[in-house]
Amino acid sequence: MVEKRKKLYPKSKVELSSVIARHYDRLLDLGSLGLYGGFLKRAIKDIGLKPTDHILDLGCGTGRNAALMMKYLGPSGKIVGLDLLPEMKEQFEKKFEKEPRAIFRHQRIDVPFDLGEKYDLAFMSFVLHGFPQEVRMVILNNIKRHLKPGGQLVILDYAEFDLDKKPLLFRLIFKKFECSYALEFIILNWKKVLAEQGFRFISEKFYARNYVRLLKVQTQDFPLENP
Ligand SMILES: C[S@@+](CC[C@H](N)C(=O)[O-])C[C@H]1O[C@@H](n2cnc3c(N)ncnc32)[C@H](O)[C@@H]1O
Repeated sequence: MVEKRKKLYPKSKVELSSVIARHYDRLLDLGSLGLYGGFLKRAIKDIGLKPTDHILDLGCGTGRNAALMMKYLGPSGKIVGLDLLPEMKEQFEKKFEKEPRAIFRHQRIDVPFDLGEKYDLAFMSFVLHGFPQEVRMVILNNIKRHLKPGGQLVILDYAEFDLDKKPLLFRLIFKKFECSYALEFIILNWKKVLAEQGFRFISEKFYARNYVRLLKVQTQDFPLENP
C-alpha cells in the first residue's frame, strides 16, 4: 500500500503526492494540451543566462527546467537543484546521469539553510505561490543568503491578475486546481514585496495570455551600471 505523505502546509498544492510527482512532466503537458513546453522554452531563453552562471533551482522538480537551462551553460556553468521529494531526485539524477554540472540536493527550501556556496542566479518556477506568505519570506531570505553580490533572482510563476475578471472556465479551473495561497499570491504586488526584501527590479515578461510572468530582480548590494 502506498503511504500518504504528510503535507508540511496542508493547503499547499506544490507539495505533490507521490503519484503526481512521478508523472509530473507528463501531467503538465497533458493538462496544458502541450502548450506548457513551448512557453517554458521561451521563458528559459528569455532569462538571458551566461555560460559561466552558477544557478540554484529551488523546488527543481524533475529537472526539466534545469535541462533547458543547461543548454545555455558552458563548461564552468553549474546548476544545483533543490527539492524534498525522492521521486524528483530520481528523475533529476536520471536526466543528468552523464552531466556533472547538474547536482541534485535533497533540501527543504522553507526552512533556513546554508549550502556553503554562492550563486549568480536563483531560479524558482511555480513554487513560490504554493506557500503561506511568511514562509515565502523564509525562502527569499534563503535566496539572499545564497546569491553573490548583484546576483539575480528569476521567478517564473503566476502573474498578478484579478481572478474575478477572468473567464468563467479559467476561474473554475484555477479554483479547483490551485490552493488558497495561490489565490493570495496573484493579488500581491510582487515588485513591491521584493523591493521591501532588498531586491531591485530588472525586467518582466509575460506568457500564456499574461497569466504567467518571468520576473527578474537583483540584490541591491550592487551598483547599477547606468544609474
Ligand atoms: C509545482 S512543482 C514545480 C517543479 C519545477 N520547479 C517545475 O517548474 O517544473 C513544485 C516543486 O516544489 C517542490 N517542493 C514543494 N515544497 C518544497 C519544500 N518545502 N522544499 C523543497 N521543495 C519543495 C516539490 O517537490 C515540487 O517538485
